[in-house]
Amino acid sequence: MCGIVGYIGKKQAAPILLDGLSKLEYRGYDSAGLAVRDGEKDPVVVKAKGRLKDLSDKTAEGTTVFGCCGIGHTRWATHGEPSENNAHPHVSDGMNVVGVHNGIIENYQELKAKMIRKGYSFYSDTDTEVAIKTVDYYYRKYGVGPIDALAKTMVRVRGSYALAVMFKDYPGEIFVARKDSPMIIGLGEDETYVASDVPAILKYTRKVYYIGNLEMARLSAGQVTFYNLDGDTVEKPLTEITWDAEAAEKGGYEHFMMKEIHEQPKAILDTINSVVRFADGTASDGRTVAGKASIDLSSVGLTDEEIRKFRQIHIVACGSAYHVGIAAQYVIEDLAGVPVRVELGSEFRYRTLLLDPDDLVVIISQSGETADSLAALRESKEKGVRTLAIVNVVGSSIAREADYVFYTMAGPEIAVATTKAYSAQLVSCYILGIQFGLVRGTLSQEKADRLIQELSTLPGKIARILEDKERLQWFASKLSPAHDIFFLGRGLDYAICMEGSLKMKEISYVHSEAYAGGELKHGTISLIEEGTPVIGVLTQKDLIEKTISNMVEVGSRGAYLMGLTTNGNFSIEDQADFTYYIPRTDEHFTPSLAVVPLQLLGYYVACARGLDVDKPRNLAKSVTVE
Ligand code: AGP
Repeated sequence: MCGIVGYIGKKQAAPILLDGLSKLEYRGYDSAGLAVRDGEKDPVVVKAKGRLKDLSDKTAEGTTVFGCCGIGHTRWATHGEPSENNAHPHVSDGMNVVGVHNGIIENYQELKAKMIRKGYSFYSDTDTEVAIKTVDYYYRKYGVGPIDALAKTMVRVRGSYALAVMFKDYPGEIFVARKDSPMIIGLGEDETYVASDVPAILKYTRKVYYIGNLEMARLSAGQVTFYNLDGDTVEKPLTEITWDAEAAEKGGYEHFMMKEIHEQPKAILDTINSVVRFADGTASDGRTVAGKASIDLSSVGLTDEEIRKFRQIHIVACGSAYHVGIAAQYVIEDLAGVPVRVELGSEFRYRTLLLDPDDLVVIISQSGETADSLAALRESKEKGVRTLAIVNVVGSSIAREADYVFYTMAGPEIAVATTKAYSAQLVSCYILGIQFGLVRGTLSQEKADRLIQELSTLPGKIARILEDKERLQWFASKLSPAHDIFFLGRGLDYAICMEGSLKMKEISYVHSEAYAGGELKHGTISLIEEGTPVIGVLTQKDLIEKTISNMVEVGSRGAYLMGLTTNGNFSIEDQADFTYYIPRTDEHFTPSLAVVPLQLLGYYVACARGLDVDKPRNLAKSVTVE
């Protein structure tokens, strides 16, 4: 996610902005910038692609930029490549409005077209520049004050935002607006701060206001006034932050992994809303879906004509992304009737590639830099095959070199063990399966509508699972002494087992294997001893009885059984030592729900074993070597 910092007071702003932004580096970014105003002079804007140090070097650690009022920003690219030009702050003509933004403006293209019709031009590819010029438009057109201009913009904009804006006519003041993206406002001695997160200002003050959703505020030195969308002032309690700096970076969670597990509902919601258009112009809020919806892959670059032409799909990925591919194979083949082959990047690139020009190679990669996946992309392109990248990092190598790009909107993922990026990739594949099925005629509009409607309920259902973590923590305490843990499943449940097993072993260092339920008896069942934990995943109704039989087989040999199944299916309860229920959903989408308890199990076992959950031994977040 992007990071925002703002300061008004009696000190020079630039060094405070740089210091605050350095405390937000953990949020992940690819460029940075600041705008500082000295009295009534125009703000000085300095931006730099790359690390915050580059911005600091450009401003001699902030000493060459004068003024006591300023805003700063670290950008995690969602729209527009990482570049100095796309870095924030963004400005309207004549520096009338200067601002920074954290979030995603979903209808920025529509707004941009409107602004162009009104005579505006654009220098960047960002949604933020559109937002800033929309504020400018309302400010100038209606001759209203900054708060009214922000309110009119908020009514017009769809998406999430934490905006911090300076107006030429209001020196020494910063105006902020918030919807869904985090923002806090700090109060010091005749000083006021604004930031995306607590760590940025903890060094200066522990006294903060939490601005509400769809609220605005006017900040001056030591003064804050809050407003609602009607422009009425609202009172806010001033609270005291008790966290220490390290806890604050993790949003109060003990580890980034747990924080990111909890960010999955938003990651899925943002990914859905990036390509699903809702009839009445709203977007899914994760609880309800307003009106009919349709999938628009224009931002991905895929046309219906191209979708109709593809003969076969080859999904190529590594690690958890490969497990997404295994799940996607079942979903896309069932919904779209297209043959799907899934390969490990490290295998694909060394085999005799039987690729047809009418094939599509899909590369799934959170980092967009995995060497084996990048090599597979290049090999495919050399053979003249169209390539689609599903990546989480804008401007990454795989994103830049693929023919089509489907960006997951998970935001930066800090923990080595992927969770929210995996979940966002899964949802991207469901969406491709629905759209391919619709376009190729294997899916009726009515069925597609139902699937999209169900897709939009996933964030809320995951949130419900996350409210019931304690039972998993208890069961994990039973697992933590284990030497071997087996995961059993069939079909999509087998794909879920793969991810559950990887989560377990990569952070708890307990050996684990995922097994197709029907395969265990072909050898590996010999490893089952008294007390060996076996976790059965049972979400595919036509396969549940078979998997139960497999679980009974291993149970009769002493296995300690956990059943993971959907509400209402009680058939495993009598056989298992522990059963965990997830909310019901369309069977194509159960991986998104079933994986969450398995992520939590791996997390809790690793914690019980006192391990470094976020940085497991021997592992890197992005494997950029072969
Ligand atoms: C998953 O938890 C691991 N960190 C690892 O398997 C990862 O999924 C794999 O290295 C692929 O990374 P990518 O998605 O960035 O290509």
